[in-house]
Amino acid sequence: MHSRAVVASFRSFVIAVLLAAVSVLISACGSDVHSLGATSNGTPDQGVAVSQVRFMTPPMGWNSWNTFACKDTEAIVKSIADAIASNGMAAAGYQYVTVDDCWVGGRDATTGQLYANATTFPDGMAALAAYVHSKGLKFGLYTSAGTNTCAGLSHGTRPATYPQGVGAGSLGHEAVDAQTFANWGVDYMKFDYCGGNLSAFPAMRAGIDATGRQMFLSINPYSANQTLVTNFASDGTLYVPAWADMSRVSQDISAKFTSVTSIIDISAADAAWAVPGYFNDMDMLEVGNGMTQDQDTAHFIMWAMMASGLNAGNDVRSQSAATQALLTNAGIISVNQDKLALQAVLDSADSSGSLQVWTKPLATTGTRAVALLNRGSSAASITVTLANLGLTGPAQAVNLATGTSLGAVTQSLTQTVPATGAVLVKLTGTDPVAKNGPLAPQSWIWDAVESGAVEVKTNPAGLPLAPGGAATATVSLHGVPYLDGMTVNAPAQLVYRLNGNCTTFQSDIGLDAAANGAGSVDYQVWADNVMLYDSGTITGATAIKTVRVSVAGRQTLRLVVTDAADGVTNDVADWGNPSLVCSS
Ligand code: GLA
Repeated sequence: MHSRAVVASFRSFVIAVLLAAVSVLISACGSDVHSLGATSNGTPDQGVAVSQVRFMTPPMGWNSWNTFACKDTEAIVKSIADAIASNGMAAAGYQYVTVDDCWVGGRDATTGQLYANATTFPDGMAALAAYVHSKGLKFGLYTSAGTNTCAGLSHGTRPATYPQGVGAGSLGHEAVDAQTFANWGVDYMKFDYCGGNLSAFPAMRAGIDATGRQMFLSINPYSANQTLVTNFASDGTLYVPAWADMSRVSQDISAKFTSVTSIIDISAADAAWAVPGYFNDMDMLEVGNGMTQDQDTAHFIMWAMMASGLNAGNDVRSQSAATQALLTNAGIISVNQDKLALQAVLDSADSSGSLQVWTKPLATTGTRAVALLNRGSSAASITVTLANLGLTGPAQAVNLATGTSLGAVTQSLTQTVPATGAVLVKLTGTDPVAKNGPLAPQSWIWDAVESGAVEVKTNPAGLPLAPGGAATATVSLHGVPYLDGMTVNAPAQLVYRLNGNCTTFQSDIGLDAAANGAGSVDYQVWADNVMLYDSGTITGATAIKTVRVSVAGRQTLRLVVTDAADGVTNDVADWGNPSLVCSS
């Protein structure tokens, strides 16, 4: 009896504590939308105008710089276009033929317009663009954000005939140069920093938009060993993905495997900045420029995996059969051009860090592209484990580069990978699919976080736990506690599979209590790479907002918290009571 009385009184005590905890929490929330146990039901915020993605997949083409530097000429570019149109590259997806630096003759004092070097490009750029177009290809052209181009400043590659300081950069001439490019029929602008000014970048975007011509804007903030921004995507005043289609992440590539691996690591660190329509550019390819075939293969596979632009940088007129086969490999290219367009992230590595597994979901549910990358100097076995990928087996495996079936995988797949080489595999198994109800306890299929990890917080300690749930900390927006949610440091992103089963996504958003009233972020909700909601700048002083968007028929949901153009210090942000309405 005595013991039963103790149990009974202990039970009453626990119930009293729980009720007290609930009432404290409810009173903290008032009777508003944040009440515990419920999904948010505030009036949905309209946000700011959403952006349209200009280019859904990374650009593919060719660029003159890696092979020709300042020795590019009209005749060379025409013969390159001939080769691409006829050697299978155009059919494989290569579109843009881009003339890099050294084409400029000067700026016309009367019209204020750039003109081409009359010796090397005698017919001018409009004629060259027309020629490239006549081959069914698109035309790309370089300019710089300074008063001179990179070669005009440095590189030691400037021929004697190429004058220094000809005023060939676009700084202060963005609108007129964008219009000149549009008049010439340019489809792709490579816009290089080179001692330029930050203001030139958004000014060029505005200039291009004013022309009404669709032009891919590929920027490089890292020219000639000068770094424009401390973080390529935000220098603290600009949010680059709002106006560039692609930005370089590194200094210039060279045809060395150490250059390739260093750029892989830089791009990996920047994965959380890439949003739909904005790609991390790992620089022009060095395939066919002197590395071994295995190194070229690893290079090409990783550029494809990381959703970089694929701009060939070799002399495609005289490439070997092996280079030709690699550059046109349909399986590898399909990973780069996959319409979900995610950047691969590191899944696992051995203790030395040289045997790595990289992965990204592809658009079709249940599919993953997996690159087994051997950075070491001897051949080695590398294993990918389905559980790590969040994929349920059995999964069908295929070597994407060779098309060879690797059979059914129940738990893991091991492949021998050559030294400084890579093997690319596609796995088709079963993905976790988001269900009706709270999103926080559910599995996502991909995340990219620049610092820290996604903190999932479900069921504050003291409240009843969902089956299998673990008590964790409470999501606290501005000190208002929520039943569940996720806390991230911007920039951070999550992707879920919806598979067309859901109709509504809803969440409260705001800076976390850990931001200490400071910080500022921008929330974005995307589905199938269509932007559904953009919060605009949210600071510690912004009232909690509710996002509610239709996801009817959508296959994927992408939740993004990114910079609000002032750097990411204190940018600790929450998704509070995120939930889905789904048919099951
Ligand atoms: C910089 C760029 C290169 C190339 C040269 C041209 O170095 O990073 O890709 O455009 O300028 O001078």
